[in-house]
Amino acid sequence: MKPDRRTFLKNATAASALLAVGGMAQARPTYSYIKNLKKVSPNDKIRIATIGMGIQGNFDTQAALRSAPDAELVAVADLYDGRLQRVKETFGKEIITTRDYREILARPDIDAVLIVTPDHWHDHITKAALKAGKHVYCEKPMVHHIDEGLSVIDAWKKSGKTMQVGSQRISSAAYEEAKKMIAAGDIGEINYVESNNDRFGAIGAWNYSIPPDASPETCDWDRFLGDAPKVPFDAKRFFRWRNYRDYGTGVAGDLFVHLITGVHYVTGSMGPQRIFSSGELSYWKDGRDVPDVLVSILEYPKTDIHEKFQMVLRVNFANAGAIKNNTRIIGTEGQIEFDNQGIILTKKKLPEAPGYGNYDSYFTFPEETQKEFVKNYDAKYPPETRKAEPVKEVKFSKPDKEDEHANHFANFFENMRKGSQGTIEDPVFAFRAAAPVLACNESYFDQKTVYWDPVAMKRRK
Ligand SMILES: NC(=O)c1ccc[n+]([C@@H]2O[C@H](COP(=O)([O-])OP(=O)(O)OC[C@H]3O[C@@H](n4cnc5c(N)ncnc54)[C@H](O)[C@@H]3O)[C@@H](O)[C@H]2O)c1
Repeated sequence: MKPDRRTFLKNATAASALLAVGGMAQARPTYSYIKNLKKVSPNDKIRIATIGMGIQGNFDTQAALRSAPDAELVAVADLYDGRLQRVKETFGKEIITTRDYREILARPDIDAVLIVTPDHWHDHITKAALKAGKHVYCEKPMVHHIDEGLSVIDAWKKSGKTMQVGSQRISSAAYEEAKKMIAAGDIGEINYVESNNDRFGAIGAWNYSIPPDASPETCDWDRFLGDAPKVPFDAKRFFRWRNYRDYGTGVAGDLFVHLITGVHYVTGSMGPQRIFSSGELSYWKDGRDVPDVLVSILEYPKTDIHEKFQMVLRVNFANAGAIKNNTRIIGTEGQIEFDNQGIILTKKKLPEAPGYGNYDSYFTFPEETQKEFVKNYDAKYPPETRKAEPVKEVKFSKPDKEDEHANHFANFFENMRKGSQGTIEDPVFAFRAAAPVLACNESYFDQKTVYWDPVAMKRRK
């Protein structure tokens, strides 16, 4: 067998690979990163492992395997025994399973890991994986706290490895099309973006099913807690972790992040400069410590590529009214609306002439003044300036059987093969989307406005 990256890793000794694997509670390792010494050969199989095989871990793994016929699932780490057992039932008895993700990172036969754990583990496992020489697909939001972002970016840059973050919707044709429309000036200058993502139901409000055998024996509670405060075993915390700040990032990290990622992708924006949220825990008073109603306002500064605009985001998990979730990017000459089918572009342009009459002050003028007004108006606005352009509507339906999730993985694998770090959602892009949503939470919990520098990716005073 010709020498390749895997044999290099083997020769570099399993011990050094093991050393390169940093556990959350361990001291920071001092050795250097395993550089991207060789691309994945186009003929090589891509060998993947999933760390965190819960709901999305299953979907991600299936999407990864759909996207690349030469991808192969080798190993899985998870903290609930039932899920490891389920892996054998669904993906095959030969899959190596463990509770300890570090065993996976130490294996030289794994090229890439999918990190699909609760949010509080993302940064730790990502940095350890990059250090161990793995390519990384990490779920959104890339980090749990704003202060963790730059160290992940640094680890990624040093590693030379490919990394993709998982807001897969930007790998759909609708987002590509919206990006082209905005670049072509189809909606004029963007001035407002709005999106709501309301729900009404227990599962929608994250109260996922808890298996009857959940216990400290079947769940690795200590490892689950990681750097979170030590509390006694609680199956609700383990299986419904989104409801607790110690592990999750609330509705902002779960849902706002997809929208912001999409808006940054289609507009080229790097992020907001001022963020404010207001919210409450209205209905799901089941022990959770995150709001179920949250409204956030984000102010995007003018840049070389867009004018200043405002973004308003809302989630209401107890909306017993009519739910009409939508996302609209509004500009001075039209709007782009996203729905499940694709996008609708509506174009409108004001005529030059302002018009007069109806609900206007014109009729309050004395008769002579009205005559004078009309004379002046007619002189200033010839007929061709009075016609509004007809409203145009252009629908873009997403292609039949589009698989954006697999596309997102295809982009990851393609970059891995090329030895490129240029994925569609690399850590810099992903942090620029994650930081504002984490700031939405900070604003809500600390009751303050958060000031952000989207270019430097740092807080502003
Ligand atoms: N991109 C998307 O559309 C999308 C959709 C859903 C979830 N997500 C993200 O995916 C991640 C997982 O969400 P989920 O709904 O699948 O949660 P989940 O609770 O269903 O699964 C998480 C799994 O991670 C395991 N785990 C926890 N800590 C671990 C560790 N240290 N090592 C190994 N395994 C560990 C748990 O045992 C659990 O089985 C979250 O970050 C979430 O934001 C993304």
